[in-house]
Amino acid sequence: MTNLIAQALIWTGTSLNVLDQRQLPETTHYDTYTDAAGVAQAIKSMRVRGAPAIGIAAAYGVALSVKQHYSQSENWRNAVSVDIETLAQSRPTAVNLFWALDKMKAVLAQTHENVVDAITDCALTIHADDLAANQKMGDLGAALLVGTKGVMTHCNTGSLATGGYGTALGVIRSAVAQNQDLNVFAGETRPWLQGARLTVWELAQDGISSMLIADSAAAWLMKSGVIDWIIVGADRIAANGDTANKIGTYSLATLAKQHGVKFMVVAPISTVDWMLENGENIEIECREPRELLPTCYDTPDSLVSAWNPVFDVTPAALISAIVTEKGVVLNPSEHADGIRSLQS
Ligand code: MRU
Repeated sequence: MTNLIAQALIWTGTSLNVLDQRQLPETTHYDTYTDAAGVAQAIKSMRVRGAPAIGIAAAYGVALSVKQHYSQSENWRNAVSVDIETLAQSRPTAVNLFWALDKMKAVLAQTHENVVDAITDCALTIHADDLAANQKMGDLGAALLVGTKGVMTHCNTGSLATGGYGTALGVIRSAVAQNQDLNVFAGETRPWLQGARLTVWELAQDGISSMLIADSAAAWLMKSGVIDWIIVGADRIAANGDTANKIGTYSLATLAKQHGVKFMVVAPISTVDWMLENGENIEIECREPRELLPTCYDTPDSLVSAWNPVFDVTPAALISAIVTEKGVVLNPSEHADGIRSLQS
C-alpha cells in the first residue's frame, strides 16, 4: 500500500502549514500561519476541518500565540487568553477543539519557565497522541468487521480530518490492510462534499477502491443488502453515547436500523464530552445559507432562503458500537456505564 496521503497540518517549528481542503482534490495547496487569529480563520473557513484536526490546529494556534507574545510584553498571558478565545469561537460543535484548548490552558497555568517549549511540546503531543489513538481504533474497529463484505462511510474521517490515519476511515484502512475484501461505499456528504472530494480521494491515494453514492441513494443501497456496517466518526459524544456528527448521520442511523445494518461510531476519547449526560444540549453549527443556495437565490430580496445545519445528533439507541482507543462499547444504550468506564 502506498502512503502518499497529504497531511492536513504540518508544524514547521515557527509556523503551521494548513492544507486548504476546500481546493481538494484538484489542488494541493498549503497556507502558512504564524498567528492564532490566522489559524482560527483557517478553521472557520473550513481549510482545515474534522473534529480531531481542528483540535490539533487550535493547539498549534496557541503555541503560535505564546511564541508571538511571550518575549514582547509583560502582559503576554492576557494576549494569549484573547487568542484562545478567538480560537474557541471558530466552530462550536466539535468538542475536540475545546478539549485541546483546555489542555493548552492547563500547561500555561502550570508553566513559569521555558513556556514556549512547554506549550509547543503539548501541541506536538496532542498531534502524536491522536495519530496513535487512530491506529489503535483501526485495529479495534477492524476486529468488528470480520466476515463483513460491504461498508458505507459518511463525510471524511481520514488523515485529513485527524492527526493522521483516521477514525472511521482508519478502521476501513486497517481492515483492508488485514486483507479483508471490503466493498467501500462513500456518501457525497452535501453540501461540502467531504465524501466526494476528500474520502474517495484519500482512499484512492492509499490504493483502496471505493464507490461514491449520492446521499439520497443510501436507503436503496442498504435495501440491496450489500453493506453490513455503516462506519462514521464523531464531533461530540455525550456520556450516554448520543453522537453529534456530520449532517445526514442521523438519517443513515435511522435507515440502518430499518434495514438491519449495523452502525459503528469511531472516535478518540477526546471526542467524548463528559459534561453532557445526553445529546440534547449539543450545539449544532448552522452555517451560511449561501453554502447551500444556488447563487441566483442569494440576493437581498430573494424569496428563497436555506437552512444549513452541518451536524445532527444520532441517539445512542441507534448505535451498535462505539470504538475508542480505550476500548469498544457495544450497544451503548444498553450499557449505561459503558462509556463512563472508559474515562480515566
Ligand atoms: O464539517 P466538518 O467537515 O468539520 O465535519 C467533519 C465530521 O463531521 C467528521 O465526521 C467528524 O469530525 C469526525 S472526523 C474524524
